Amino acid sequence: MTHLTLPEGGHILRLHWQNGDTTDFPLIWLRDNDPDELHPQTQERIFDLLSVPHDITARHASLAGDVVTVVWDAPEHTSHYPLAWLRAHRPGTPMADPAQIEPTIWRADLGLDGIPRHDAGAILTSDTALSNWMHTTQAFGLSIVHGLADTAEAGMNIARRIGHLRETNFGLTFEVFSKQEPNNLAYTPVALPLHTDLTNQELPPGFQFLHCLINDATGGGSIFADGYAMAEDLRTENPEAFEVLSTITVPFRFHDRTHDIRTRKRVINLTDTGAIDEICYNAHLASIFDLAPDTMRQFYAAYRAFMAKMRDDRYRVTPRLQAGEMAVFDNRRVLHGRQSFDPTTGGRHLHGTYVDRGEFLSRIRRLALD
Ligand code: OGA
Ligand code: ZN
Repeated sequence: MTHLTLPEGGHILRLHWQNGDTTDFPLIWLRDNDPDELHPQTQERIFDLLSVPHDITARHASLAGDVVTVVWDAPEHTSHYPLAWLRAHRPGTPMADPAQIEPTIWRADLGLDGIPRHDAGAILTSDTALSNWMHTTQAFGLSIVHGLADTAEAGMNIARRIGHLRETNFGLTFEVFSKQEPNNLAYTPVALPLHTDLTNQELPPGFQFLHCLINDATGGGSIFADGYAMAEDLRTENPEAFEVLSTITVPFRFHDRTHDIRTRKRVINLTDTGAIDEICYNAHLASIFDLAPDTMRQFYAAYRAFMAKMRDDRYRVTPRLQAGEMAVFDNRRVLHGRQSFDPTTGGRHLHGTYVDRGEFLSRIRRLALD
């Protein structure tokens, strides 16, 4: 039988679960999370934490049925907590999250056939198809959507199935073709080595969508590589380089006639628990490194070691996008690039946009509930 105790002076309520586990719930946390003190419509907290002392005490606590009742001392108040809610929110246990999807780390052996492919029509009309595609895209950080209509809006309509588009200095959407007065290397016919976009932004865009409208020119194949794989291998093979790239920040900058957007970033960014979360790697947006001379040499050694992985065929897949296909990838994980192309031999035109990670993960959660 599940039962509870209020250990003397412990400032906790201790639950002894039926299966033998015990959990300590700090009283101040319980008081702060009284389910009745959320706004009934918005579910936002309206409780004022400073209206109770930090060392708040409970006069009495009891379990009846599936509900724990706590009667608080001054100021007097009674709170009710469903057992299932307490179980789900055991302190020290992160809340369950349907958007927490283990990454499937891949290398060149993924092959062209291994890149997840999904049908545009199904994504547009079915929430199940949308959810399946988003799960796979989150796991691999990359997918190709096929069967898009030959219109500028077709790819954007797929992106809008997820959420708001992320506007940047290049617009809400952007056109990738060879331009007369380019303000971005992507808008020339030159090869683009592997990179992540807009590392100069405070928050580099999350998911990127590149809808291929025309790809008739010679060259112009795409390149993708999983930054998680490259960074994980660097961690194993060259821990010192990994340490440098995951701790030292360097400046990135984009500037043209209307903007001068700068930030500092680590090339490899880790979560609180040390997992690889984000790669910020863009050799053409890297600004003039301003590190002290000793650190500078150390940084360059590490940076070159990571750069060598960018050139290594063992990590890359090289699909050639066809008209009607759209590459979708997590720009903060999967690096992208392209071969040069010859604009005198035919057209090459991609239409692009971004949707941030927060929007993407929110949509996965809502689809899991609906
Ligand atoms: C870009 C880019 C790739 C391509 O626009 O950021 O990298 O295939 N484009 O042209
Ligand atoms: Zn790019």
